[in-house]
This record gives sequence, structure tokens and C-alpha cells, in this order.
Amino acid sequence: MEAIRAEGLTKRFKDVLAVDHVSFTVKEGELFGFLGPNGAGKSTTIRMLATLTLPTEGTAYVNGKDVIKEPKEVRKSIGLVSEKMILYDRLTAYENLKLFGNLYHIPSKELDKKIEELLKLVDMWRWKDHRIDTFSTGMKQRVNVIRALLHSPKILFLDEPTLGLDPQTTRAIREFILKVNDMGTTVILTTHIMTEADAVCQRIGIIDHGKIVALDTPRDLKKKIKSEELEIVEIEFATLFTDMVNILQNTSGIEKVIQLDANNLRLHLEKDFGLQGLMKVVSPWSDGIRALNTIEPTLEDVFIKLTGHEMRDQASKKAKRNFIGAGAHRF
Ligand SMILES: Nc1ncnc2c1ncn2[C@@H]1O[C@H](COP(=O)(O)OP(=O)(O)OP(=O)(O)O)[C@@H](O)[C@H]1O
Ligand SMILES: [Mg+2]
Repeated sequence: MEAIRAEGLTKRFKDVLAVDHVSFTVKEGELFGFLGPNGAGKSTTIRMLATLTLPTEGTAYVNGKDVIKEPKEVRKSIGLVSEKMILYDRLTAYENLKLFGNLYHIPSKELDKKIEELLKLVDMWRWKDHRIDTFSTGMKQRVNVIRALLHSPKILFLDEPTLGLDPQTTRAIREFILKVNDMGTTVILTTHIMTEADAVCQRIGIIDHGKIVALDTPRDLKKKIKSEELEIVEIEFATLFTDMVNILQNTSGIEKVIQLDANNLRLHLEKDFGLQGLMKVVSPWSDGIRALNTIEPTLEDVFIKLTGHEMRDQASKKAKRNFIGAGAHRF
């Protein structure tokens, strides 16, 4: 059976079309990623699938159940780690998990066993009796993630689970996601970090302005660039001159000029134009060239090719996580 089938899923907020007739399927046991910039519609899609908000049009089936007609059934089979952390500051890790477990009506002994298993899995068992407000963001997020797994859901939704975390915790959370998926849970992950999607997802849906612009394995997405007859080059200059960058931007044969930093440019060259064409254009500045490399396409290149713009243009981070101590919980 498919874990998820979305059919023309649409969400409109007044004049904003947040999700625009999105259709896709996720296979059972898959680790599927939604990759897109801020405001692309990732969270809204997840929220519709998790029955936290109703679609304006279309519907989706989660574990075979209709999100509109059978929301209660849907909720039983899913776990959700949303953008907001939902933990009680003044309770310990264990008390928090006990509390959320009780909301799912898990029998007490079974719950104790599950909490121990999950806390050990994220290496937090020794901190079980410490209060949440004494934890680092990374420690909190570990507890927050396992909170969504207490009832052993078949499907786990993770909305930007590594946002605002340090590299070490990010790695730990990614490894944990892979482990959970290995144990048979279908995982749907959203991220605006290309490398994260590339590293963990089996298939990726690239979403921009509410629409899925491509959906495939990371490998096949990158292969598409090659068949598009593009050559990707990074070039390092001692100094980048505005004149030169302008000329490159206006040269036909150069599809895209991306300024990486004060010295480096990444260029999408049409294959026919190629390095030869490039060398001609930059010849007045050739003394200043420090390095020139042809490189393999990344998902960033795929995104640019498909949407015409860079993801990081829009990805100004709202890196600070909202941390709420109490409030309504739907499950
Ligand atoms: N409750 C709401 N009311 C009005 N507009 C909303 C609401 N929720 C989302 N939007 C709008 O819908 C669009 C998609 O938002 P969404 O949060 O789904 O994007 P996202 O891909 O999750 O972005 P981010 O990376 O910032 O989390 C945005 O333009 C956003 O401003
Ligand atoms: Mg979001």
C-alpha cells in the first residue's frame, strides 16, 4: 500500500496560494523529502497531511485514510514533529514523554518500556530526570523527536527537524532519522537544506511557490542537469570586479552566474559554449584567476535550473526555534 497519496492538494490563505494542486505518492517504508525555500508551502502541505488544517481543494490519503473524511484514523497512524517544539519546560524529559504517551492512551508498562527504548536510542537516557529547561536546543530536539514516536506510528512527519541545531546535533538527528526509517517507519521530511535532502532522502519533491517542480531520487534529479546539456564550473578570482560579473551575466551561453563569496563564482554554462567560451569572456581578467574547476551538479543546481532562482536568495533563516511550554496539543 502507499503510505501517502495526495491528489490535487491545495491550500489558499486569502490571496496566498500556499499549496497549489499538489499530487504525489510516498511508498510505504520510504524516506521522502520536501525540499524548498522559505514560504514554498512545505509546512502547509505537512499540516494538511497531518490533519492540522483542511485543504481548500483536493485531498490526501494517509495510510489509506482520507485526511478530510477520516482525520481521527489518520492521526492514529502518524507522528508529527512540527516547526514548533512542544515540550513542557518545567517537567523532566521522562515526565514529558509520560505525559504525551498518556495522551495516546498507551498502557503504562508498555509506555515505560517505549520511553526507555527511545531515550536510549537518542542517547538521552542518563538525562531522563533532568528538566527540559536545563537542556541545550539539541537535547530538547532529541526529546521532541522521540515524543512523536511513542505510539509507534507507521508514518513520521518531520518539519525542518534540524533547523537551528549545531552541526553535531544535526548529524545525530539525521542518523536517528535514518535509523527510524530502517526500522520500517515511513518518513516524510521537509528541509530547505540541499545537502540534508541529498544525504538522507530516497526521493525528493522539490517545491517552489506551492508547486512540485520535480520529484525523483537525488541521483536522477542531478542526472537531469547533465541531460540538459549544462556544464557547471566554479571559478576563483583574486578579486571579483562588478564589470566582469555584469558581462558574465549578460553573455549568452552562460545561463546562470552565482556569486558564492568575495572571490568565487559558480557558473552554469551551456555545453556548446563550454570552458572555451568562458575563457574568451574572462580573458581581460585572466591574470586574476586563481582556480577553475568543472564540478558535478548538486541539488542546488537542479533547483536553479528548474526555478530560475537560487534557493538561498529566499532562505533567510528563521533559525530560532519557537519553544512553547504549554498549549493545545492535537493528539
Ligand atoms: N496561517 C496562515 N495564514 C496565512 N498565510 C499563511 C499561513 N500559513 C502559511 N501561510 C503562507 O503560505 C505560504 C507557504 O507557507 P509555508 O509555511 O507552508 O511554507 P514553508 O515552505 O514551510 O516555509 P518555511 O521554510 O519558511 O517554513 C507562505 O506564503 C506563508 O506566508
Ligand atoms: Mg515551514
